[in-house]
Amino acid sequence: MPNKFVLDSIFLNTSKGVKMAGKILVVDDEKSMCDFMEIMLSKEGYEVETTVSGSEAIQRTSSSKYDLIIADLMMPEMSGLDLLKKIKKGRPNQDMIVMTAFASVDTAIEAMREGALDYITKPFKVDEIKLVIEKSVSRQKLTEENSRLKQQLKKDFSFSNFIGQSEGIINLKKLAAKVSVTDSTVLIRGESGTGKDLIAKAIHAASERASGPFVTINCAALPETLLESELFGYKKGAFTGAIKDKDGLCKMAHGGTFFLDEVGNTTPAIQVKLLRVLEDKIITPVGDTKPIEVDVRLIAATNADLEEDVKAGRFRSDLFYRLNVIPLYIPALRERPDDLPLLVNHFIKKYCERNKVDPKTLSPGALEVLNKYNWPGNVRELENCIERAVLFSRGDEIVVDDFPTKLVEGTPQTIVSNETPETPTLESIEKAYIYYIMNQTKGKKAKAAKLLGIDNSTLYRKLERYKIQEEEK
Ligand SMILES: Nc1ncnc2c1ncn2[C@@H]1O[C@H](COP(=O)(O)OP(=O)(O)OP(=O)(O)O)[C@@H](O)[C@H]1O
Ligand SMILES: [Mg+2]
Repeated sequence: MPNKFVLDSIFLNTSKGVKMAGKILVVDDEKSMCDFMEIMLSKEGYEVETTVSGSEAIQRTSSSKYDLIIADLMMPEMSGLDLLKKIKKGRPNQDMIVMTAFASVDTAIEAMREGALDYITKPFKVDEIKLVIEKSVSRQKLTEENSRLKQQLKKDFSFSNFIGQSEGIINLKKLAAKVSVTDSTVLIRGESGTGKDLIAKAIHAASERASGPFVTINCAALPETLLESELFGYKKGAFTGAIKDKDGLCKMAHGGTFFLDEVGNTTPAIQVKLLRVLEDKIITPVGDTKPIEVDVRLIAATNADLEEDVKAGRFRSDLFYRLNVIPLYIPALRERPDDLPLLVNHFIKKYCERNKVDPKTLSPGALEVLNKYNWPGNVRELENCIERAVLFSRGDEIVVDDFPTKLVEGTPQTIVSNETPETPTLESIEKAYIYYIMNQTKGKKAKAAKLLGIDNSTLYRKLERYKIQEEEK
C-alpha cells in the first residue's frame, strides 16, 4: 500500500480541472484502504466518507444520500454481497460498485447480477479505479439530468398554451411552474376572463398529481346548502331527497387537484369546512359524523377583493391566510397591450382550424380597433370576438366590419350610464336558478319546490312566467 506522502505527490499532478463532483461512501474492513481511497477521491473533487463496517454503512445510507457506494466484497462482519443486497432492498436505485480480490471474480459477477454497476479487482491501478468511478458517477448525473429535462419539458408544454410575453405574464408563468412542483395551496386572482381556470389546469398538468383527477366547482353558482352537499357529499337521509349516500366533489378529487372557483362566494359555515380540508385533510359529509380523509391539493380562484371581505367579516381571515400561501395574480388584458397581437393570432389560428377554413389575417385597421378597446371581459371577450369575426369575415382578411359595433365605437373609460347591460336582473337570476334546480331534480316539481323553499303552486306560477318548458328541463 503506498503511503500518504507518495499519494499526495502523485495526485497533485494528475487531478485536472473541474471534476463532476459527487458524494461517495467507501466500505472496506481494511482501514488503510479506506484512507487511500479517501485521499485519492478527495483529490479528484469528490466528497468522500469511509467506514470499516457494513452495518454502519447501512445506517449511513438511511440518513444520507450517496451518489456512489464502493464496497469491498470480502469483509468479516458482513460480506459486500450481503451489504449490496440490503442496500438495494431499501434503495433499488442506489449505485454501487464492488472491489474484489483477483481470486473471487465469481462473487463480483454475482454482485453485478444483484445490481452492482461494476467491479474492480484488487490490486488495482489508480487510473483504472478513477475511470470506473467517474463513469458510474457521470452515468448517474446523466440520468438525473435527463429526468430533470423531461420534467422541464412537461412543464413548458403545459404553460405554453397560456399565451403572453408581457412581463406580468412571464413572471406569472415562472411562478406557476415553480409552484406546480410543490403541493402548496395556490390562490389565483384576476378579473373575469383573464385565464384563472386555464392557469389552474396548467398547474395541475405540470404537477405530480397530473395523472389524478382535476375537479372544479364554482362556488358562486350554488346556494349554501347545495354547495355544501356538492363539496362534501351527503349521507342517506341527511335531508329530504337524500335517498342514498353521495360522494362530494372533494372526495372525487382524491389524489388530484380540487379547483375552487369564486371562493369568495362561500358562507362562513362552508369556509370552516374548507379550512378543515386544508389543515387536517378531512371532510365530513352532510348528515354524517364520521370524517373521511382526503388527499387533495387545493387551488382557489377569485376576482373579489378578499382582503376587503376579510375586513368586512364576510371571509374568515384564517382561511384567507391559508389559501393565500402562494398568490398568483393575472393582470387584466388592458394592462398588457403587448400580449394582444399574440392572443389575436392564437385565436385566429384556433378558430380557422376548428371551422376548417383557410388561415386568415387581420387588417391593420382591425388591429387598431382591438388595440383601442379596453376589454372589460378580458381574454374571454377577445376570444369570443375573434371567433365571431372568423365566422363573419368573407375574405381571407378580418376587417373592422367583422367586429361588433360596441368594439368599433370604443369603450367609454368610465361607465356613466346606470344601464349596464351586462348586469343580470333579479328575474334572470331567479329564472336561471329555478332552471338549475329543475335540472337537478330531473323535472320533479315537488322536489324542486322543496329545495327552492317555495310551495308547489308558486313554482308552477314561476315556471309559467319564465316559460320554462318540459323539454327545456
Ligand atoms: N393567456 C391566455 N392564453 C390563451 N387563452 C387564454 C388566456 N387567458 C385566457 N384564455 C382563454 O380565455 C377564456 C377565459 O379564460 P378562463 O375561463 O380561464 O378565465 P377566468 O379568469 O377563469 O374567468 P372567470 O373569472 O369568468 O371564471 C378561456 O377560453 C381561456 O382558454
Ligand atoms: Mg373561471
